[in-house]
Amino acid sequence: MKATSSNILVTGGAGFIGSNFVLQWLRDAGASVVNLDLLTYAGNAGNLAALEGDSRYRLVRGDICDADLVAGLLRDHRPRAIVHFAAESHVDRSIADPGAFIRTNVQGTFTLLEQAKLFWTALDDADRHAFRFLHVSTDEVYGSLGPGDPAFSESTAYAPNSPYAASKAASDHLVRAYHHTYGLPVITTNCSNNYGPFQFPEKLIPLMILNALEGKPLPVYGNGSNVRDWLHVEDHCAAIRIALARGRVGETYNIGGNSERKNLDVVAAICDLVDELRPDAQLGPRRKLITFVGDRPGHDLRYAINASKIAQELRWKPALQFEDGLRKTVAWYLEHGSWIESVRTGAYRDWIKQNYEERIPR
Ligand code: NAD
Ligand code: TYD
Repeated sequence: MKATSSNILVTGGAGFIGSNFVLQWLRDAGASVVNLDLLTYAGNAGNLAALEGDSRYRLVRGDICDADLVAGLLRDHRPRAIVHFAAESHVDRSIADPGAFIRTNVQGTFTLLEQAKLFWTALDDADRHAFRFLHVSTDEVYGSLGPGDPAFSESTAYAPNSPYAASKAASDHLVRAYHHTYGLPVITTNCSNNYGPFQFPEKLIPLMILNALEGKPLPVYGNGSNVRDWLHVEDHCAAIRIALARGRVGETYNIGGNSERKNLDVVAAICDLVDELRPDAQLGPRRKLITFVGDRPGHDLRYAINASKIAQELRWKPALQFEDGLRKTVAWYLEHGSWIESVRTGAYRDWIKQNYEERIPR
């Protein structure tokens, strides 16, 4: 059976990273994209509004757990690759309601792998050789580092600590097994914390930008000394494209920004940027809004990525410094009030109430 040579199937392309990826892909690579997305609370078709009327893009609203739907899409569109972003992705929600994470991240990835295997097996030799299943994963599968520990490398043992991280670890293992057992040509990428346009405002950076803008408390978990390694989403998407084009089948690649920052420092930097871009004499300096609240249960202390494999093998490195990327991101949120209003629905407000009401200020 013949595959279409240029088409790709993206899952979760209406979410934060997926939508940035689709926009970048169609801008730079050009080939058609079918986007399978359930449009959960985190998915927003409007992220891709710029593609309206673009015949290279098609959104299919549906569930990656639906085997018949996935089989039909593969049959009809014959993609040369699947780029798998779809997931439940927020750690705090995984603590409150882990079931959805097991379903989408584990069962959903299994369903995709199974259907990809059936499709791939029936291809002719050249297309079988060219096909790729690229699985987008996280550094959180490696667990937590102490202050002086070496950064996560591809050989660091898995030690996931949250239901989110455990569900992503399980999906990574399934992807590995489908390569080892059936020969499915997979590549897995494990990336650090992303930030940038279209990130749903329940994650640290957009939540703090919007609260700072609106003069609301800035809820820092614990004492704010937890460290994350931040990477701008455009750099992550570029790394995924390079891994898809040149990555070795069966390999995993760590992707990171080499930008470890304490949460408190990130929040303080956001305050200063919002003060500069939207000064408010009545409010005064936004740093005053920082409020230490009850910690996240099992809160990982530190993540850091050793990205030397992808740097050496595939010649990828981040283009954007964290401070420049953060400035651009703050400016983007300040300029996109209507996008913000469109995603802050009743369900969003319910989540914010549920997550922060119980976190007594300390
Ligand atoms: P997101 O939550 O913003 O978007 C997830 C998307 O998946 C949404 O569009 C949602 O509608 C869709 N989706 C959810 N369940 C689905 C289902 N059952 N079927 C089809 N679509 C479904 O997530 P994100 O931040 O863009 O993350 C994308 C991927 O990258 C995830 O796999 C995540 O684990 C990984 N990742 C994220 C980060 C980060 O910092 N955000 C870092 C490393 C890796
Ligand atoms: P988050 O953006 O949820 O990403 P992750 O948990 O996947 O790293 O959180 C980033 C860090 O910020 C994490 O250490 C938890 C912390 N955090 C807060 O201190 N306050 C908040 O309101 C949120 C959402 C996160």
